[in-house]
This record gives sequence, structure tokens and C-alpha cells, in this order.
Amino acid sequence: MKINVVLGLQWGDEGKGKIVDVLTPAYRVIARFQGGPNAGHSLEFENKKFVLHTIPSGIFHENVMNVIGSGVVIDPVIFAEETTQLKTMGVPVERRLLIAKRAHLILPTHRIIDAASEAAKGKTKIGSTLKGIGPAYMDKTGRNGLRVGDVLSPAFGSRYEALKQKHIEFLKQFDYAYTVDDYERQWMASIDALRRFALVESELVINEYLSGSQAVLAEGAQGSLLDVDFGSYPYVTSSNTVCAGVCTGLGVAPSKIGEVLGIFKAYCTRVGGGPFPTELTDSTGERLRQTGREFGSTTGRPRRTGWLDLVALKYSVLVSGVTQLIMTKADVLDAFDTIKVAVAYQINGRETHQLPFETNEPVVPVYREFKGWNRPIAAMRREDELPPELMHYIRFIENETGVPVTIISVGPDREQTIIRS
Ligand code: GDP
Ligand code: IMO
Ligand code: MG
Repeated sequence: MKINVVLGLQWGDEGKGKIVDVLTPAYRVIARFQGGPNAGHSLEFENKKFVLHTIPSGIFHENVMNVIGSGVVIDPVIFAEETTQLKTMGVPVERRLLIAKRAHLILPTHRIIDAASEAAKGKTKIGSTLKGIGPAYMDKTGRNGLRVGDVLSPAFGSRYEALKQKHIEFLKQFDYAYTVDDYERQWMASIDALRRFALVESELVINEYLSGSQAVLAEGAQGSLLDVDFGSYPYVTSSNTVCAGVCTGLGVAPSKIGEVLGIFKAYCTRVGGGPFPTELTDSTGERLRQTGREFGSTTGRPRRTGWLDLVALKYSVLVSGVTQLIMTKADVLDAFDTIKVAVAYQINGRETHQLPFETNEPVVPVYREFKGWNRPIAAMRREDELPPELMHYIRFIENETGVPVTIISVGPDREQTIIRS
């Protein structure tokens, strides 16, 4: 059996949480493969809304095992808060969740380093969620990190202290005031909570499920344009958000990758700094933000908004070998008379269909315009109900990318989903 993958194809917040929740009944296992609590994945059903940060989006379903894979970085405090909230709602989290021993821990001092280095960057700051993601991955690749499995070692306390002291030394270069005590107390208490979960070799577990013909779905965080290698560097996160991240983050071979489901919004958003060629800073952008409720699920920050960018989308499809597209938030465009899509860029008077490595010149999108459908689609449940203008828009995207759109999401609720035959 091969592992299927759900990925964001833009700058995150494409609706991965909602879609994974919708797809979960067809799977035995849902596994997060990278990122950490910088993610905010929203799910809505039965008039309730949940935001998950570390825990996979299959957690609300019975008979489904959720796995936090080794490529993830975990902040025990945020993890404990999430589990407490889920338990209050009656979700038996301990029974439905396995955690990779190889996943790295985010220390309280990682958060402080994140904040200090962002503050030092001034205007060129990344716009990090300040959850300590970058510093935790730096310690992982720098071979200094602490892993989830280390919490079982009697030497855990001393290893924690040693790494914390390293961080305190490192922080001396910044003119940054901080205290660690309060968060550290919570952190230590949360480590105890973490010890109560099944800590496993997730690569063995996942491969065993696959050999036993049990369906596994890998859940990505962030989006392809935030990938540390292929995103808009340095305005990226610190992990591989593209499909290759599934192999390194879960320990599955490339030959085991099955369907790659790439999610995109019918327009674009980005939160934090960095290039965004189709960004709208005018009233149309504000209208997209208000209609789409584009405010961060993790930080509450207003998201930057703009038209769909096919140059960027095609790049994401290429890098991850996307086999199916999922379009979300088409309903947000319901009342727009005209919808624009960037099909190329003009840079320095020259047209290009490729994302530039970097440019100091303005990137001017070349737009193709589409007639809007001017009617609400949120209550529609079948493809044949959808307005012809929307289907025309979808077919154009399919032709340009060469990939079929197999799911259309018309609202945040589980039920507001059209699966095309
Ligand atoms: P994720 O990080 O990719 O899981 O996405 P987020 O949860 O951060 O942001 C997506 C937001 O859009 C959430 O508030 C979802 O509830 C909402 N959403 C998802 N799909 C749709 C859709 O088709 N239409 C509308 N209007 N909202 C949606
Ligand atoms: P989900 O999984 C949107 C952005 C931050 C910042 C950059 C680096 O909900 O789609 P980091 O905290 O990783 O150091 O931030 O990446 N970012 C996200 N933007 N959705 C996310 O996750 C994001 N996770 C990180 O805003 O620009
Ligand atoms: Mg999100």
C-alpha cells in the first residue's frame, strides 16, 4: 500500500485541516510529517470549530490512529494545552495518538532565540510565528537538539540544562531582555504529560501499517512556497513542506508515495514578510480578507491577500509531483464581478513564466480575467449545481497545471465539500 499526501501549495492556510478531516474516514492512519505549532489547522463540524497546532487533523474520528512523525518539532506546553482541550471535549487523545521518539523538542529558550533574532532583524524580519520553530530545527541539524525519546532518559534533566546554557550564551549577542522561569515551569510539567503518551519509532509503525495494506494519509503543515529549500527564501519556515518532506519526516521510501493531493485557495494569502507578486493592498484585498475571514489561526494576524498566482501554483505542482488538486474557499469569490489570475510575470519589461530566484525589480503580474458567478455556492453539494463561470475557472486551472481538481470546498464545514467523480 502507498501513502497518500495532503500538502498546501501556497503560503499556508489553504484549508489542510478541513480537507484532512473530510478525507479521514477513508484512512486508518493520519500522520503529520513536518512543522510544529507554527501551524494552525481549523476544522468545523456540527457548528463547532477547532484549531489544531501539533496534533493531526484525524483526531476527531474513531478507529483512526494519528501519528506525530519524526520530522515534527513539538512544544510540550502547546501540545499539553491541545490535548487538555480535546479531552474536555471527550476525545480520547491518548488512545488515538502516537508520537515519534525522533521528533525534536522546542525548548523555552528556542522561543526566546526566535523572538530575539526576529527583533534584531528589524524591517527584514521573517514574520515568524515566534513558536521557536527555526531555532529548534537549527539545533536538530546542528546536532544539539533534544528529542521526544530523550524524556525517558534519566539524563534528560542534565541534557536540558546543558542545552539551555548553550542558548543563554548564544542570547548574549542580542540586546534582548527575557525571563524563562514561568514558561520553563509549564514546560517541565508538560514533559510529564508527554511521558503518558505512546512514544514510538514512527518510521517502523507507518511502514508496518502500509505493509498490512492499511491506508495512511500524510498531513503537511505550511505550504510549498514556505519550504526551506524551494520557498521564497529567506521568508520561509525551517522545514521541507514539499512532498519530499514526507519521506524524511515519516521514514517512508519515495517509491511508497501514492496520490499527492495539493490544496490551493481560489485566491492567495500570505502571513508574515516576503514576496507576494499578486498581493492586493487596495479595497479588493480588504474585501478578500473580510469575506474570507483571513486572520491567522495561530497568531490572529491579518493575512495579506491577493489573486490566484498560476506561476507559483505550477511551480508547487512541479516540485511535489501533485497528482490531484483541491480548491478551497471558492465561496469567498461569490460576489466578485471579475476574478483575476496571474498567468505570467513582467520583470523589467520582460515576460516570464518562472518564479524569479530573487529580484530587486518589481514583479508585475500579467492577469487573465474571468467573469464572476455572482451567486452563493456555500449550500451547493453537487458538481452539477455549481455555476458555469466557476467551472470555467476550474477548467482553466486544470488546463494550465495539467492536474485535475478532484475536490471543491465551498465553506469551512466538513459538509461543505464537493468530491468530483
Ligand atoms: P490550514 O492551516 O491549511 O489548515 O488552514 P487554516 O485553518 O489556517 O485556514 C483556513 C481557514 O479557512 C479556516 O478558517 C477554515 O475554517 C476556512 N476554510 C476552509 N475551507 C474553506 C472554504 O472552502 N470556504 C471558506 N469560506 N472557508 C474555508
Ligand atoms: P499552516 O500549517 C501560514 C509563516 C510565518 C512566517 C514564516 C516563518 O497553518 O498552514 P515560522 O514560525 O515557521 O518561523 O514562520 O512562515 N508560517 C505560516 N503561514 N500558515 C502556517 O501554517 C505557517 N507556519 C509558518 O507567518 O512568515
Ligand atoms: Mg493555518
